[in-house]
Formats: sequence, C-alpha cells, structure tokens
Amino acid sequence: MQRGCASLHAVAPTSFHNVDNLRQNRRLEATRPFGQTAKISDLAEPLRTIHVHIPPALSLREKFPRNFSRVERRNRNPLTRRDATLSPTGGEGQGEGERGVQTLLARLVRCTSRTSRVLPQNRRFPRIVMNTPLRQHQTEIERNLVAWQSKLLVRQIYSGFYQRIMALLALELPGRIVEIGSGVGNLKSHLPRAISTDLFPNPWLDVVCDGYELPFVNGSLSHLILFDVFHHLRAPNAFLREARRVLTPGGRLILFEPYISWLSWPVYGLAHHEPVAWQAPINPAVELPRPRDYYAAQGNATRLFFRREQREWPAGWTIFHSEAFASFSYLLSGGFSRTALYPARWLPGLQRCDRRFSRWPRVFGARCLVGLQPK
Ligand SMILES: C[S@@+](CC[C@H](N)C(=O)[O-])C[C@H]1O[C@@H](n2cnc3c(N)ncnc32)[C@H](O)[C@@H]1O
Repeated sequence: MQRGCASLHAVAPTSFHNVDNLRQNRRLEATRPFGQTAKISDLAEPLRTIHVHIPPALSLREKFPRNFSRVERRNRNPLTRRDATLSPTGGEGQGEGERGVQTLLARLVRCTSRTSRVLPQNRRFPRIVMNTPLRQHQTEIERNLVAWQSKLLVRQIYSGFYQRIMALLALELPGRIVEIGSGVGNLKSHLPRAISTDLFPNPWLDVVCDGYELPFVNGSLSHLILFDVFHHLRAPNAFLREARRVLTPGGRLILFEPYISWLSWPVYGLAHHEPVAWQAPINPAVELPRPRDYYAAQGNATRLFFRREQREWPAGWTIFHSEAFASFSYLLSGGFSRTALYPARWLPGLQRCDRRFSRWPRVFGARCLVGLQPK
C-alpha cells in the first residue's frame, strides 16, 4: 500500500490560508532537518508526499488574518459564508423535523446567551449527509479556528481536557508523541513536543497525513493522541492496525471522545451536526481503501469502550484506562459550534459540579478518555 498523503494533498489545498507559507514550508523540508519537534528518521518513505515544517508559532491573528474588507471577510469567514458543500437536510433520519428542532434550539441558545454578540448570528449548521466529501473536515477546521479565537471559555475548558490527556503520558518511553487529526493544533500549546498532524496542509501543522496510513517507521512512536478523532474513523480496526505498527512496545494510544449518556445524548444528537449513530453498524474492516469520505459517529467510543458491544474488542490491545465524566461546563459552553450559555466566570463553579456528577457517568457523562496499549 502506498504510504503518505499525495492524493489528499492534491485534492485539499487550503482555502484561505497563505499558500506561499505552505510552499515555503516545502522548501524548508528540503533544506533543513525536521523542525524542532521531530527527526526526519521518524518518517517512512516517500517523504515527498508529506509536508514538514518548523512549527511557525503563529499568533491567532496571523493564523486568521483580518485585514480584509468587510464583505470579503464575511465571505471568507466559515461561520458567515453560505457554504454549498452540504445539504442541510437528508441522511440518516435527519429530516426537516429534526432540522426544525435544531434551528429552534439554536435560536433559543442565541436568545439566552450573554455572549451571543461574540459570534455572527447568521451561522448555519448543516447536518452531515451520506457521502459527504472528506474536505468537510477542512471546512470544520476553519470554522473551529474562528470559534477558538473568539471563545476564551472553550480555550479554558480544553486546557482542562489536555491536562487529563497529559496525565496518561508515560514520558519515559522512547519515541515521539504524535497527535492524529490535530485540527486547529491546540494540543501543541500544552504539549509542545507533540508532532501535530492532520489530513489537510494547514500552516500550523508539522505533518500532513491520514491516520490509516501513517508516515512513521515501525515502532518509532511512544504515544498517539486522538482528540475527537476516533469517532471520525469509519474503520477503527484499520486505524488500530496502523497504530500498532508505529507504536513502540508498551507505547500508548490515547483517545478523548464524546461520551453518550442520558444527559449528553440529546445535546450531541440535537445540537451537534454530526450523528450519534447509536444503532449504525461499525465497520470491522482492517483496511479502508481509498477514496475515503467524511464519516462521523459520535457514539462509537461509548459503544465500543464502555458498553462493550463487541466482545473481545479491541483484539490485541489492553485498555489501561477508561473514564467517562460529566462536563456540564463543556456542554453548556456550546463547544466550537454553538454560542455559550453561561459567562466565563461561572466556569469554576460548573467544573465543581462536573466533578460531583462524574460519579454517575451513565446519567451525566459527556466526555471520555481511553488509554490503550498493544499487547
Ligand atoms: C472534530 S476534529 C478534532 C480536531 C482537534 N483534534 C480538536 O480537538 O480540535 C476531527 C479531526 O480529525 C481529522 N481526521 C478525520 N479523519 C482522519 C483520518 N483518517 N486521519 C487523520 N485525521 C483525521 C479531521 O481532519 C479533523 O481535523
């Protein structure tokens, strides 16, 4: 199987980030070793299919320049532009009725939020439909970047999430730490030594690659971290096979995911554009041929790691940590895609509630953290 991301690169130019920056990064790749965070020897051939660059330490303003005219800015802003990539209806039981509820909820959220002025009011949240192109991920990354910039609350909540992840690291293990599907690349601000990767060549990433075809040599990584990425893997076994190949013996795979409980199900099901897919079959294949499309099933981690729907799964792995916890602070923050329902100064109080209610994850859980090791 061909390794690397040539075809992804070909179909996925960045839409509004500085393309020169990327070209320059490619020149860097040819002339100097692999940045401050990774060694070129960690990468498998062929290198030409991978973008590697020194992490540019871009400020948020540089990541998302604002020196456009008002109209241009509105058109470039993924929150305000009319996005034609998705139909707002159809697909897996997401008909007009559900869209109506979603719109109603969105309006309610806007009306009740004190921070509703922070984000544009005319956002649309198209539901995911079957055969959505993979490029939908990049659309969401661009949208998340805007939210990350404008929502201090989300940054504070994620900081707590990252600390939970870091508590699972075994830093004495040899090898590099790699994040798969880094999105806007925020883990790196807490864990600078992590190599950030994603499907699309955004300027803040270290490597562009697909989780099913990792460009790292066998046994070269100590950790793989996936934050909200596992539920985008249509064939989890195919990814696990690749993860096992690149992890050093005793290496760790850490997953941070939505957790579906009685409380969180309606929130994830109604207020988020991705399906929970509670009943849908999960593809057991150990290889996922190209071309690949967009996939999302928010319930997968809960079903596989907590409800243990598939006995003996994951074969050949030990689950050394599995924890589901309440996160009212996160659900009510609106995450990346909705307006916050409370002001940032309430966060410490809500986090105290989270700790208290985490005793009943099946009822109040909203997030989960899973650690795996190859046997
Ligand atoms: C919900 S976003 C999470 C982004 C980031 N980890 C965060 O927490 O903000 C999911 C990310 O997974 C990436 N992704 C999806 N499928 C992937 C795959 N097969 N290989 C690598 N990354 C993938 C997407 O491009 C997207 O950036």
